[in-house]
Amino acid sequence: MQLGIETSGLSDQLIVVRRRELSKKLHGSVLCYPGNDLSSFDSRLDQLKELGVEELIFEGTSKVGKFGIIGRGCVSTVVKARMKSENEIIALKIRRADANRSDMSRDHELQSFANSFGVGPRSISASKDLFAMQFIDSIKLGKWAAKLKTRTSKKYTRSLIRNVLEQCYLLDVNGLDHGELSNPTKHVLIWKGEPKTTIIDYESASKNRRVSNLTAVAQFFFLAGWQSEKIQKILGFEKQSPHFSKSKFIAKLRKYKDAPIEKSFEDILSYVKC
Ligand SMILES: Nc1ncnc2c1ncn2[C@@H]1O[C@H](COP(=O)(O)OP(=O)(O)OP(=O)(O)O)[C@@H](O)[C@H]1O
Ligand SMILES: [Mg+2]
Repeated sequence: MQLGIETSGLSDQLIVVRRRELSKKLHGSVLCYPGNDLSSFDSRLDQLKELGVEELIFEGTSKVGKFGIIGRGCVSTVVKARMKSENEIIALKIRRADANRSDMSRDHELQSFANSFGVGPRSISASKDLFAMQFIDSIKLGKWAAKLKTRTSKKYTRSLIRNVLEQCYLLDVNGLDHGELSNPTKHVLIWKGEPKTTIIDYESASKNRRVSNLTAVAQFFFLAGWQSEKIQKILGFEKQSPHFSKSKFIAKLRKYKDAPIEKSFEDILSYVKC
């Protein structure tokens, strides 16, 4: 059964499709995105069954044909789904048929490692082409940054930045370099309604590189990011005495990078009043 509930015009159409009702003709382009090679469709249906996925929920601002999805990247499309074992809606990351990765195992393994110290969406299970995880009802950091105004709440901004930096610190002390945080706009999700964030997408992460999670994100917020001046204004840096000094901040980041210990981390937080 395909349940089409139009909520507010075509762009918001919610379509729920049970696993058994998925068809190559109608849904092949989502399950095997971009849709020109559907040879893995049957195997992907088997994998949905193996994982216990009951239905796909096509809803979201990105589209594959008429089907709404919650995200699309170079490696995957991400759709909402419901699983037997979970009470809540989950996010299902589906490997693109043209992805330059052969499976989702690295993503799953490294995200599960991040979960072991409280970072990342909760990993549920994975197969060759699918990765089920906690769904984060959120907006991307990039969207938040694009909407920033100098009158945006200082308290909220402070808590939000502190929340991201704390997770970067956890990644650092546990030796997991995310690898894509110098531009965190796509990989930091902000929860709706609270200054809480989740760092996603661990397929490029590594346990063998020198970690640079906190330094990358701190540079984005306070030094090199396109909204860093606005963030400084919101946090009232220009009124601070002594004023925020880029060179002093860089020196603190260097010290932290040499030895990412709690004292250096706290020093960074207190320097940016977060
Ligand atoms: N757990 C989740 N909850 C909610 N939305 C998610 C979740 N995981 C991913 N998304 C959405 O899907 C998008 C793509 O996810 P992700 O970055 O993991 O895919 P990718 O194929 O590796 O992308 P990229 O090529 O950008 O690295 C994200 O930007 C986000 O909008
Ligand atoms: Mg990725």
